[in-house]
Amino acid sequence: MLESLWSRRAVLVSGKGGVGKTTVSAALALAAARTGRPVLLVELSPDEGGPSALASLVGAREAGPRVVPVAPNLSFVRLSAQEGHRLFLEETLPVKWLAEAALRSRALRRFLEAGPALKEMGLLFQMLALLRRKHPDGRAVHPLAVVDLPATGHALALATLPRSILSLMPGGPVGRAVREGLDLLQDPSRTGVVLTTLPEPLPVSETLALVEELKDVGLPLSAAVLNRMPEDPFTPESRAALERLLETHGPHRGQRALERLERAREARRRLAAGTPVPQWGMPELALTGMALVERLSELLVSPLEGAAVPSGQEATP
Ligand SMILES: Nc1ncnc2c1ncn2[C@@H]1O[C@H](COP(=O)(O)OP(=O)(O)OP(=O)(O)O)[C@@H](O)[C@H]1O
Ligand SMILES: [Mg+2]
Repeated sequence: MLESLWSRRAVLVSGKGGVGKTTVSAALALAAARTGRPVLLVELSPDEGGPSALASLVGAREAGPRVVPVAPNLSFVRLSAQEGHRLFLEETLPVKWLAEAALRSRALRRFLEAGPALKEMGLLFQMLALLRRKHPDGRAVHPLAVVDLPATGHALALATLPRSILSLMPGGPVGRAVREGLDLLQDPSRTGVVLTTLPEPLPVSETLALVEELKDVGLPLSAAVLNRMPEDPFTPESRAALERLLETHGPHRGQRALERLERAREARRRLAAGTPVPQWGMPELALTGMALVERLSELLVSPLEGAAVPSGQEATP
C-alpha cells in the first residue's frame, strides 16, 4: 500500500487541526527514507517566521527555504513565499541580478505579500522548483516530497487559488507556472493526498466532508489515516465473552476504555464506507516528539496486516 504512495512526486498530508498531520508527515517521510528512497519533507506553514513543529520532530538544524539533510535519504525544507517569488522572477526576467533588484523593491514586495493568492503562489512555485531539480544524469533530486499542510483549508487553497489566478492571468509566465502547478496537483499518478483524522465521530464526519471537497477541487485522495487508534486487546470471541460477563455487572471501571474502542471501530467502519481509498490505523503511543515519529515510522515500514492497527507494546490502554 505504501509502495503505491511512494511512486508519487508529492504526498500532501492534510486534515483538521490537531489530528496529527505533522506527526504523520514526519513518520511517513522517515518510513519512505528507511526503505531507501530520497525523501524531501516539506513544511508549508502560513507563519513562515514562527517556530517549526516539523523541524524539531526530525531534528532539522534549520527551518527555512534551504534544503537541509536530516537523516539518511531524508532532507527537510520549509517553503517560503519570498523564495518562491525570487525563483519565479529569476525564471521570468532575463538576468538574475534583475530579479534580485526587483525583489529589493519595496513596492513589489508589498504587492507580492499583500494578496493571499500571491503568497500561496510563491509557496507553490518554490515547491515546483524543488520538484524540477535534476541531477546531471537527469534523475530528479527530490523524487518524492512529503508535504505537511498546516490546516485543511490549505490543501484546498493550493488547488483553488491557482484556478482563480488562471482566470485572471491565463497567459504569460504566471499562467504557465500556475498551470504546471495545477497539472501536478490534480494528477493522481504524481500527487496523493493523505487525509489524517482521529477515530472519533466528529473528526470522521469532518473528514468525510473533506473527501467531497477534495473531489470538487480535483485533488486525488490516496489514503486515510486513523491516527491515535486505541489498542484493542480483544479477539471477537474474547470480546463477546466479556460482553456476556459485563451484562451481569453494573457500571465498571473499564467502561470508558471499552466505549472508546467501540467508537474507534465505528470510525473505521464509517471511513471505509465513505471512501474507497486504503485506510491505515496509527496507534496511540505513550511517546512524544522524535521518539513518537521514529516508532510510528518503524510500524509503517514493518508489514502491517491490511488496515489493522499494529499492537505496539507502548500503546496506552
Ligand atoms: N499516534 C500518536 N500517539 C500519541 N500522540 C500523538 C500521536 N499523533 C499525534 N500525537 C500528538 O498529538 C499532538 C498533535 O499532533 P500534531 O502536531 O502532529 O498535529 P497537527 O495535526 O499537525 O496539528 P496542527 O493542526 O496544530 O498543525 C502532538 O502533541 C503529538 O505528539
Ligand atoms: Mg501541524
